[in-house]
Amino acid sequence: MPVNKICCIGAGYVGGPTCSVIAMQCPDIRVIVVDKNKDRINQWNSDLLPIYETCSWPAAITLSEEPGLEKIVFCCRNRNLFFSTDIEAAIKEADLIFISVNTPTKIFGEGKGRAADMKYVEEAARTIATISTSSKIVVEKSTVPVKAAESISKVLRANQKAGVTFEVLSNPEFLSEGTAIDNLINADRVLIGHNDTPEGKDAFEDLCSIYTRWIPRDRIIGTNTWSSELSKLASNAFLAQRISSINSLTALCEITGADVSEVALAIGQDHRIGPKFLQASVGFGGSCFQKDILNIVYICECLSLREVAAYWQQVIDMNEYQKERFTKKIIETMFHSVSEKTLTIFGFSFKKDTGDTRESPSITVCKRLLDEGARLHIYDPKVFHEQIINDLVYATRDPEKVNKSVNIFSDPYTAANYSHAIVICTEWDEFINLDYSNIYYSMKKPAYIFDGRKILDHQDLSLIGFEVFTIGKRIDKPHVKITNGV
Ligand code: NAD
Ligand code: UDX
Repeated sequence: MPVNKICCIGAGYVGGPTCSVIAMQCPDIRVIVVDKNKDRINQWNSDLLPIYETCSWPAAITLSEEPGLEKIVFCCRNRNLFFSTDIEAAIKEADLIFISVNTPTKIFGEGKGRAADMKYVEEAARTIATISTSSKIVVEKSTVPVKAAESISKVLRANQKAGVTFEVLSNPEFLSEGTAIDNLINADRVLIGHNDTPEGKDAFEDLCSIYTRWIPRDRIIGTNTWSSELSKLASNAFLAQRISSINSLTALCEITGADVSEVALAIGQDHRIGPKFLQASVGFGGSCFQKDILNIVYICECLSLREVAAYWQQVIDMNEYQKERFTKKIIETMFHSVSEKTLTIFGFSFKKDTGDTRESPSITVCKRLLDEGARLHIYDPKVFHEQIINDLVYATRDPEKVNKSVNIFSDPYTAANYSHAIVICTEWDEFINLDYSNIYYSMKKPAYIFDGRKILDHQDLSLIGFEVFTIGKRIDKPHVKITNGV
């Protein structure tokens, strides 16, 4: 069955960019992205595109630019790309429906703190079944637990109208924030899981025929549905595992005098290992890694695979350890107390080039420093001030303390003024070329820099006079040459 009309439920970080690229590559297909969040749809229909996230609490908005997204949306919008809140109409007319809703970690009930909350996926499936008057291909785009397609099929079958059938495919998304359009256009692979039935194979071919407009056929992988679902979780778990593995060596490097960047370079040259995702850091963040690994842990525990669960849990534990270790280092170095001292935090987003703060390591570091009585000056080029306050209030559960001890700044120099230390939590490029001599003179002495992302020139900073600390490398004091004229 040729696909002429596509509906995508969920106009978020995945649904918006993915469908914009489909609309651009397939001008003959009508693509409607729907969301129950009216504000989000209004923004997709405005000049200022939203890639914003709503937390369960507090309601928060983060604007974030995706290079290339604007051009595509402005070109296709109201031509063959539409953003709407009329979910029912879009479902009714679609041949193929992407479910691209959020699947956050459950915050209460069975599996709290680990299991994926599938309520939005289930809600979407129920709506599809209730509304549809013709047969559809339903594509699971959200990241879901393995076997979720079975639950979706069950909900669809139990509620479908006479004569209507549904074929469920799994087509997980691998884009990263900040590079979404490039990831979508030049995808390493497109993964499509399907039933091993004639209907399943037909549905697979139908979805394939959309992607092959711009993705070479040999990069499209067809698998069984469960392999596809598990591969998405496993892919994020493997990426996060690499970061935890390199981070696990940082303490050892600091004690022995080895340099973790040199170690990463040396091991990354081995083709079997490869150079990517070996950048040691204060820890990984973002909306996916932790959530998806916890999801694997929970599934394994439910299946009594205790050792497997413990293995993957260790990737998360190592990440927590790394964030804690970095913060402890700050406190120890500053004479075992940061109470009443002012620390300037450079960077609050979970990585550079995004305003997204979900699971940002900066939040954990700031919370710990606030617990120790520090005053914080925070500067991030992209994160909204209200977002920072909301995140810290949520983390500390102490609005009064946040109000009293946190100040947010719009430029890094004012932020650093009169502070005792600078703490780099996000690897924003602009932090590399700041005038650190100027900053040094405006700070209290001794002036400390803690580089949690390994982006600065530590030798230069030491020569300026800073006390410098970073991850995975001991910084030796510079030898200042004393010339006596002889
Ligand atoms: P998001 O929170 O940005 O967007 C989800 C949207 O779905 C929200 O706007 C919400 O209002 C809407 N929604 C929820 N239930 C709905 C319903 N019943 N009807 C209509 N709209 C509904 O989430 P996201 O970052 O786009 O992630 C979506 C999925 O993709 C998740 O499963 C995530 O794990 C996965 N994923 C995310 C990324 C990423 O980088 N953000 C990458 C790959 C995969
Ligand atoms: C991730 C996956 O990369 C993507 O494939 C998936 O679809 C969604 O989740 P994203 O969360 O956007 O993408 O960011 P990513 O670039 O993977 O970075 C995640 C975290 O790891 C960031 O906090 C980043 O700073 C950190 N990181 C990354 C490191 O600390 N070291 C590295 O070498 C790489």
